[in-house]
Amino acid sequence: MNKRDSIAPQPILLRDYVVPAFLLDRVDLTFELDETSTRVSSRLVLHRNPDHPVSDADLVLDGHELMLESVLLDGEPMSTDRYDVDDESLTIKGLGESAILEITTRIEPQKNTSLMGLYKSNGNFFTQCEAEGFRKITYYLDRPDVMTRFTTTIIADRSKYPVLLSNGNRVGEGQYDRNRHWVKWVDPFKKPSYLFALVAGKLSCLQDSFTTRSGRKVALEIYVEPQDLEKCHHAMESVKRSMKWDEDVYGLEYDLDSYMIVAVSDFNMGAMENKGLNIFNTKYVLARPETATDADYMGVEAVIAHEYFHNWTGNRVTCRDWFQLSLKEGLTVFRDQEFTADMTSRAVKRIDDVRTLRTAQFAEDASPMAHPVRPDSYIEINNFYTVTIYEKGAEVVRMYHTLLGAEGYRKGIDLYFKRHDGQAVTCDDFAAAMGDANGFDFTQFKRWYSQAGTPVVKVVSQFDAANQTYTLDISQTCPPTPGQPEKLPFHIPIALGLLDAAGAEIPLQLAGEASLQGTTRVLQLTEASQRFVFTGISAQPTPSLLRGFSAPVKLDYPWTRQELAFLMAHDSDSFCRWEASHTLIREVLLELIAAARASETLSLPGELVDAMRRALLDEAADPALIALMFTLPAETYLADQVDEIHPDAIRTAREYLRVALAKALRSEFKHTYARFCGATQAYRYAAVDIAKRALKNVCLGYLTSLDEPAFIELAQTQFQQANNMTDSQAALAALVELPQGATALADFANRWQDDPLVMNKWFTLQAMDKRADALDRVRALQQHPAFQITNPNKVYALLATFCSSNLAGFHRADGAGYAFAAEQILVLDKLNPQVASRLARSFNRWKKLEPTRRAQAKTALEKLAAHADLSRDVFEIISKNLA
Ligand code: TRP
Ligand code: ZN
Repeated sequence: MNKRDSIAPQPILLRDYVVPAFLLDRVDLTFELDETSTRVSSRLVLHRNPDHPVSDADLVLDGHELMLESVLLDGEPMSTDRYDVDDESLTIKGLGESAILEITTRIEPQKNTSLMGLYKSNGNFFTQCEAEGFRKITYYLDRPDVMTRFTTTIIADRSKYPVLLSNGNRVGEGQYDRNRHWVKWVDPFKKPSYLFALVAGKLSCLQDSFTTRSGRKVALEIYVEPQDLEKCHHAMESVKRSMKWDEDVYGLEYDLDSYMIVAVSDFNMGAMENKGLNIFNTKYVLARPETATDADYMGVEAVIAHEYFHNWTGNRVTCRDWFQLSLKEGLTVFRDQEFTADMTSRAVKRIDDVRTLRTAQFAEDASPMAHPVRPDSYIEINNFYTVTIYEKGAEVVRMYHTLLGAEGYRKGIDLYFKRHDGQAVTCDDFAAAMGDANGFDFTQFKRWYSQAGTPVVKVVSQFDAANQTYTLDISQTCPPTPGQPEKLPFHIPIALGLLDAAGAEIPLQLAGEASLQGTTRVLQLTEASQRFVFTGISAQPTPSLLRGFSAPVKLDYPWTRQELAFLMAHDSDSFCRWEASHTLIREVLLELIAAARASETLSLPGELVDAMRRALLDEAADPALIALMFTLPAETYLADQVDEIHPDAIRTAREYLRVALAKALRSEFKHTYARFCGATQAYRYAAVDIAKRALKNVCLGYLTSLDEPAFIELAQTQFQQANNMTDSQAALAALVELPQGATALADFANRWQDDPLVMNKWFTLQAMDKRADALDRVRALQQHPAFQITNPNKVYALLATFCSSNLAGFHRADGAGYAFAAEQILVLDKLNPQVASRLARSFNRWKKLEPTRRAQAKTALEKLAAHADLSRDVFEIISKNLA
C-alpha cells in the first residue's frame, strides 16, 4: 500500500488549539551519557488543568524514536495494559487529579543525524529542542504552553566529557563509579521544554563577567573546542554590548548568575536561546580578522544579540503555541536590528535588512509557500522558521514603533512584560499591550498577522500651482496567496517628505491642519484608497516616499529617471537615497532583460552613468552607502520582478550592466580603489573601516570584470597581501571565474583546509560560478575532503547556494539542475529532514519559469512526490509546490 494514500501527513490547525489537559509542577531529569546508548530518566509531577474542557482526559505524552524501559506511577511500576505506546506518543488513561510519573527511556544520540534532540558532534553531546526536539529525548508534554521548573543531573565519563552543562545554576557535582562524574543543574525559571539544553564534552571556556545596572555580577562563559578559544573575543564583547543595550533601551536586565554560550559545528540553524545556555552554530561565534569577513563579524554580533534578547522576548514571555512563533522571533529580530543600527550605521543596516526582505521574503510571499506572519496551519512546524515569520514579523513590530513613536512603543513593551512575565501568550496579547498602553486601536493593523502576500501601494501625485497644493492619491492592493484569494485593506504607515527644486526639505502641512508639522510625516493608509493634500506648496516638489522603508510593501510611483537621480543626490533620508539608485538600476535592468530576450543590442542609459558617477565621486558620502548603491540586485530578485523567468536573459542583462558600468566608470573606480586601498592597513572591526573596505572591494569587482591584466594583477596582489578575510575573499571572488582563478582557489584551499568555516566560503564562491559548467563543479566539490553531507553548513554553502542563488546555473535549460537537486534532497531527507526541506525550497519559483524549464521542474517535483517515505518536512514543501 502506498503510504501517501493511507497516512499522508495532516495539517495542524490554529483553530484546533486547546489548553493542555495536564500541567507540570516540576520535572527532574537524569542523563546517563554513553557511547552506545544514553539512558534518560524523568520524574514528572503533574496535575490536571482545571481549564481543560474534559475532566477525565487521557494524559498524552509526546515521544518519538524512544525505547521505553519503564513507567512508574506514584512509585509503583505500571502494568503495560494501563498505557499505550506508539510512534508519536505514550498515552496513560484513568489518572486522578495529580500524579507522579517516573519514565525511563533509552536513546542513541550517536546515530542521530537530524540534529534535533540529543546528538553528537565531533565527539561531544549537544541538544536542540526547538521546536519539537524534546520529544526525541523523553516522553513529555512537548508544547510551549506547558512551563515548569527543571532540574537536570548529567552523568558521564570524566575523561571524555569533562564539561557537563545544562540550564540554570550548577548546584552540585561529584564522582561516580567507572570513572564517571556527575553535575546537577537547577533552573529557577519556569520554562517550556523547547528551551531545555544539555552539553557534554571536551570544551575550553573563555570567561568574563558583566555587572548589571542593579549591581549583580553575571559570569559570562563561552565554550568552544580548544583550538577555537582565541576566536571568541569578538563574541564576548558582543555579549557585553547586548546586555548593556537591553538595559539602556528596554530597561531589561539579565536574570541568572551565569550566561553560557556553547559553539557547535553541526547545527541546523544559526543559534538557539536555551535558558542560560545558548547553543550556537560556530559560524556565529568564531571570528578573527584572518578568518572572518566584516559580514561575519556583524553576523556574530547580531546573532549573539538576538539570542541574548530572547531571554526576555521568548523565554520570560514565551509563545502559547507555534502559530505564535513570530511573537518571539519577529520581536527579537526587530530588537537585534535596532541594536546593530545603534552599534554600527543605521542607514547601512536598514538597507541590508530591506535587501534581505525583498530578496527572500517578498519571494516567499509570492511563492506556493506564502503564509501569514501568524500562519493558521502547518504540516511541519520546522518549515515555518521562515523569512516571513522572522523578517516580515520584525517589520510588523517596526510598524508599531513607527506608529507609536519610540516612547509609545516602550510604554507598550513595559505593559507587555508587566502583564505577561512568566506566561505563554499570543500575538493578540502583544497587540493588546501596545494598544492599551497608548489608547491606540490596532484592530485593523492586526491584519498584518493574518493576511499573507506583499501589498502594493500605488501613489499618484498632482501639483496644483493655483491653489498651492500637492495631492497624493494613495491606494493599496494585495495579490492572492494560497487559501487567501481576497484581502482586506492593511493599516500602512507611510513615511514621506517632499523636496524642493534645490533638494531642500519642504516643511509639511496637511489640509485641515493648523500649522507646519516637520519635514517627514507618517501618513496612515487604512482604506483601499485615500487622498492626502499638502497645502502651501509653491512649486512642483519631488516626493521622497516610504522613508526608512516604513512598511513592507511594494511601492508603485512613476518617478522619472531625472527625479531618481535627483533623489540619489539630495534626499536627506539615506535609505531613500539608496532606494532611488536601486529603483533606477532595477528599471534599467528590466529593460535590458527584455532586450536580451528579444536578442536586441544592449545599451547603457546615460542618466544612469551620470548618476552613478556623481555618487562615486561624492567624497562626503558614507562609502558604505555608495558600495550598496553599486551592489547590483541579485539574479533571484530580478527573477521575481518579471512575469516569466528566462534565467539566461537575466544573467546576460546583469552581466552586461556590470561590465558596461565598469567601462563607463573605469577611471573613477580606479581612483576610488586607490583612495581606499591603504586606508585600513591594520584590521579594525569598526564601521568606518568596514565602509572603506566595502567600497574598495566593490571597485575591485568592477575593475576585474574588464579583464585587463593590470586589474587582474591588482586582485592577485590584494589576494596575496590581504591581512584580513574581507579583502582576501573579495579578491578571490574577483578572480574565481578568470583563468587565474584556479591557482587562487588552490592556494586558498591549501591555506585553509583545516578551518571548516573558511572552507564554507570557498564552497560558496564556487557554487555561484557563472560559467556554464557550474553544476559539474558542484558535483566534483561534493567529493572534496572538506565537504560533508551531514554538516548543514557545508550543505548550505555548496548545495543550497547553488540551487537557490545560482539562478542560471540551477535552472539549466536541460533540467540537470532539477534532477541534481531532487537526488540530493532524497539523500538528505534520510539524514536530516530540516536541511533537505530547505533545499527543496529551491523549487519555489518553478511556476513562473518559461515553459521548457517549468515542465522540467514539474517532472522533478512529481518524481519527488512519488516517494512514499518522504519526511513531513519535505512532503509539505513538495506538495504545496505541486498544489
Ligand atoms: N529559536 C532560534 C532562534 O531564533 C532558532 C531555531 C529554531 C533553531 N529552531 C531551531 C535553531 C532548530 C537550531 C535548530 O534563534
Ligand atoms: Zn530567534
